[in-house]
Amino acid sequence: MMLKKLSVDLGKRSYPIFIADGALTTPSLWQDCLVKRGKVVIVTNETVQKWYLEPLQSSLKSIGVEALSCILPDGEQYKDLKHFNDILTFLLENSAGRDSTVFALGGGVIGDMTGFAAACYQRGIDFIQVPTTLLSYVDSSVGGKTAVNHPLGKNMIGAFYQPKAVIIDLNTLKTLPEREIAAGMAEVIKYGIIWDRDFFSYLEDNSEKVWAHDLDVLSDVVYRCCEIKAEVVHQDETEGGLRAILNLGHTFGHAIETFMGYGVWLHGEAVAAGMVMASRLALGRGYISEEVFERIRALIARNRLPVSRPDSMPGEAFLQLMIHDKKNRNGHINYIVPDELGRVSLRCDVTEEEALAAVS
Ligand code: NAD
Ligand code: GLY
Repeated sequence: MMLKKLSVDLGKRSYPIFIADGALTTPSLWQDCLVKRGKVVIVTNETVQKWYLEPLQSSLKSIGVEALSCILPDGEQYKDLKHFNDILTFLLENSAGRDSTVFALGGGVIGDMTGFAAACYQRGIDFIQVPTTLLSYVDSSVGGKTAVNHPLGKNMIGAFYQPKAVIIDLNTLKTLPEREIAAGMAEVIKYGIIWDRDFFSYLEDNSEKVWAHDLDVLSDVVYRCCEIKAEVVHQDETEGGLRAILNLGHTFGHAIETFMGYGVWLHGEAVAAGMVMASRLALGRGYISEEVFERIRALIARNRLPVSRPDSMPGEAFLQLMIHDKKNRNGHINYIVPDELGRVSLRCDVTEEEALAAVS
């Protein structure tokens, strides 16, 4: 087994991240994180349960834990208060106490919604992230952002609430559809642009090997992304400043997701096109060269991701929708913009003309 381990350093709320092929079925790795003696509930969805519920339940059984399962429908459209409430109802109906632990088994939708339920149930119970998509390995399972969508905005209802552990089983990628691998690659590439130009170069040379499930490359890539995210979260857990850099491409991307309707473009696809737009903004301002812009665009395209806006979406629609972005302050739209490859800044002085040119 290829095992890598790191920690998110948040004082008393620090937690480990285990990255391994077979982590799900090796409870000796993570059983120490299951400290409470109460009920254990696995929250998952109808798709993920087919492959991974039984293996996780068996793992828990092998260490003497009988886990219940709460199974939700699959899809971003179900990441809402109704299904959040369904998790709470399940916990109540099964008499889960404050000493219970919830496992979030699935992608970012299950992770975000289960984490928020764990944060709220009896004012907070333990939860463990078991991400099963590339996007959730490298982004959503780490850092404690939990949320559900509201009809008026994505991820608008939520809390910062850290898990007790993150268990990443690299074998779960074997069943993940290619479109979802691409969506995860968008977040992977993001770390190269915001933080680490050498990692960006490494991806230029090796990203095909992630697609080929090369375990050496896959574990290195997931580890490096988690390491960067852990460092950013360590420095700025609740997004007072630095953490906003993780939202590169998201201002434009969220506008695409909202315009198209949740789930039509995957989050990662929208972020991919958004990162090209933010990079074009940087190019227009002379922060990055034409060559760097082309490298960013090419790496994104090579990973089977969109590099321009949806055909049906006019440029003006971005301006109307970006006004509602969570990063905005004092009526200004805030953009994360590359200063160079490996470094970005928050910019709030972008004109409408510049934004329109960026989405062109
Ligand atoms: P997702 O959870 O919808 O999963 C994508 C699809 O893959 C789903 O159909 C799911 O059932 C299926 N699936 C999951 N694992 C599988 C596997 N191993 N094999 C086969 N199918 C599998 O989407 P996602 O991309 O993982 O997450 C997107 C969500 O994450 C969005 O709601 C976004 O807002 C959120 N997010 C949160 C953060 C954060 O910091 N909390 C960061 C980024 C994104
Ligand atoms: N995905 C953005 C964050 O965790 O802050």
